[in-house]
Amino acid sequence: MRLTILGGGGFRVPLVYGALLGDSAEGRVTQVVLHDLDAGRLSAVARVLAEQAAGVPDAPEVTVTTDLDEALRGADFVFSAIRVGGLEGRAADERVALDQGVLGQETVGAGGIAYGLRTVPVAVDIARRVARLAPDAWVINFTNPAGLVTEAMSRHLGDRVIGICDSPVGLGRRIAKVLGANPREAWIDYVGLNHLGWVRGLRVAGRDELPRLLADPELLGSFEEGKLFGPEWLQSLGAVPNEYLHYYYFNREAVRAYQEAEKTRGAFLRDQQARFYDEMKRPDAAALTAWDRTRAEREATYMSENRETAGAGERDADDLSGGYEKVALALMRAIARDERTTLILNVRNRGTLSVLDTEAVIEVPCLVDANGAHPVAVDPLPGHATGLVCAVKAVEREVLSAAESGSRTTAVKAFALHPLVDSVNVARSLVDGYTSVHPGLAYLK
Ligand code: G6P
Ligand code: MN
Repeated sequence: MRLTILGGGGFRVPLVYGALLGDSAEGRVTQVVLHDLDAGRLSAVARVLAEQAAGVPDAPEVTVTTDLDEALRGADFVFSAIRVGGLEGRAADERVALDQGVLGQETVGAGGIAYGLRTVPVAVDIARRVARLAPDAWVINFTNPAGLVTEAMSRHLGDRVIGICDSPVGLGRRIAKVLGANPREAWIDYVGLNHLGWVRGLRVAGRDELPRLLADPELLGSFEEGKLFGPEWLQSLGAVPNEYLHYYYFNREAVRAYQEAEKTRGAFLRDQQARFYDEMKRPDAAALTAWDRTRAEREATYMSENRETAGAGERDADDLSGGYEKVALALMRAIARDERTTLILNVRNRGTLSVLDTEAVIEVPCLVDANGAHPVAVDPLPGHATGLVCAVKAVEREVLSAAESGSRTTAVKAFALHPLVDSVNVARSLVDGYTSVHPGLAYLK
């Protein structure tokens, strides 16, 4: 079986390859094709993979290419894990927004819109090529903003593209753990959009254990989201939000802290990873050691007290790097081997959330088998969550429309309608600011 990884020169690719090396079952991936626009990054990552594979019998064979069509031909699975504009682009997404006094973050608010506007045209081009060159391939979309990008691709690939994120499963696991439940035996009632969802229940053997957590301020204060939102607010909501909801519920504090930080998360990662890729330019560098050191440094920032400068917040050691690659592999296995499983994924709504149309991509528990991912029936969202989900989906639709038409006016509308952008004038300044720093937005006229 052949797996193509787009964004194959990316820093997290060795995590995926490491997971593949651990798979010896029948139907496993035997060939990995790495595609990237940047040949230097490709060869750096290929060197890490070669060292990972040393001594592993039947390690998947790795080839690299900068030719997209060549990479796609013959693929059974395509992992799309690109970052349009690189980490430099992410840093600019953050900076321009913060300079306007609004949230500058990778996937949420103005930063996420700018990232979406840059990424959608590229993702659509990939989707069209997959439809032409590898029509039977399954595309697993890692590319952020994952819900929006998956929806853009689904217009060309239908249900053959499935978006993934590690945050819902991580949240479910943390809640199960504080409740003393086995995460594998728990059913997580989670729904929303990517980075905009809520856990409304956690059932073990048919019993909802979440009320026990919500009734106990001490338990609530003992895990990441409990500390982040505070027990009282979780009790008011009667649910546990995805950590990204912090940017909505505590927006003012988040913006201020980000503005005061010495570096944004994107700038921090840009500098840190540049050191790794630079080191790889030396032919004698020990690739795996250098990669591992950089990874450990990055992961240490998750444990930092300072969420604002360091990023994604405080996590348990065993939550670290157990993310995307595990979800992606579990999904790929379920499809390739028809092993039925349940995963929280980004797929088309069909009729799952009645407030959204059937084509809207949502994040929801899905039954997965050889026929793909099928969203399960869930209870409707409460009013406050419906309000946010509909508002953000409306913004995503403006982003998709601006990316298709190239209309600057539509791009302004996307920013202006976002709940975290507080003036149409700010939206205009954001479009001016972003188009002046991002070559990838030159198409907006
Ligand atoms: C989580 C989210 C991803 C996001 C990442 C950012 O894993 O689910 O969508 O890209 O955090 O982490 P970073 O280390 O890049 O700030
Ligand atoms: Mn994510």
